[in-house]
Amino acid sequence: MVEPRFDADASTPEARRALHDQNRLSWDEATRAHNSHKGDQARFYREGGNKLYPEESELLGDLHGRSVVHLQCNSGQDTLSLRRLGAGKVIGVDISHEAITFARRLSAESGVAASFIRADVYDWLVAAAGGTERWDVVFCSYGAIIWLSDLATWARGIAAILRPSGRFVTVDYHPVEMMFDEERRHAMNYSTHGRPVTWEDGVSDYVAKGGPAGTPSGWVAGVQDFQNPNPSHEFHWGTAEVISALLGAGLVLEHFREYDYCNGFRPYNAMKALGRWRWTVPDGTPSIPLMYSIVARKPT
Ligand SMILES: C[S@@+](CC[C@H](N)C(=O)[O-])C[C@H]1O[C@@H](n2cnc3c(N)ncnc32)[C@H](O)[C@@H]1O
Repeated sequence: MVEPRFDADASTPEARRALHDQNRLSWDEATRAHNSHKGDQARFYREGGNKLYPEESELLGDLHGRSVVHLQCNSGQDTLSLRRLGAGKVIGVDISHEAITFARRLSAESGVAASFIRADVYDWLVAAAGGTERWDVVFCSYGAIIWLSDLATWARGIAAILRPSGRFVTVDYHPVEMMFDEERRHAMNYSTHGRPVTWEDGVSDYVAKGGPAGTPSGWVAGVQDFQNPNPSHEFHWGTAEVISALLGAGLVLEHFREYDYCNGFRPYNAMKALGRWRWTVPDGTPSIPLMYSIVARKPT
């Protein structure tokens, strides 16, 4: 197994931008591999498909007529699903060219309308905050927070683009889950407090590992033995750090929950399936938090 490095420089905005750019290249490669395993996605959405899990659907609530920003939307599958929940206007933002190109095509081929912008989330939030449009909901999920190199700036950007009483909603993998390697051996600190965790083997083909459970549009063998040529840089943040950043930006915490199972992702080799797309640690093993969710509201 490849060991992570902890020596990448993230001390200035320029240094962090350089790390984001490397992540972009890593995500471009991984996204191609991920989508290669997914069956006819345009058909899935044309036929009314919705890929959101019950946890975020419940937290998002009734989106009819609401405007929603989906940050770090990858190939747009959940963005189109937000439309399915009734959102009046949806925009997805992601740094990966491959992901945004795929998302635009998926929207056109499925007939589910959404706009997609390719941008570093930090650049987009600054640009959006400088404009006049304000949003009802800002959403991100499942593997988003780990790519954020500066939580305070991110949270301030979200607060700036929400309208008064607008909400930030997220469901993400728990930092405790990331402390353990695939054999569930304790391998990492809980938080690296903004210090990058560099993986020379980059973003993996975790869709291949998850198998058909993670691909509601059908399973295709696709790319085999994927090797990512581009390294990736993660930022492991504790839940208190994420919440503190949101509170520091002036948002009010309405909901925080931890789950001893996770959706759509199988982090360890030995796991117990709870239904088709949800896993927990095997029977007889002490439970650990595997996901968490947050809702934070902008005061009126
Ligand atoms: C695990 S994926 C999120 C998947 C998402 N839950 C979905 O709806 O499919 C993480 C995404 O974050 C994006 N990302 C990483 N760093 C970013 C940045 N600085 N700005 C914008 N997007 C970024 C990656 O390109 C990738 O698509």
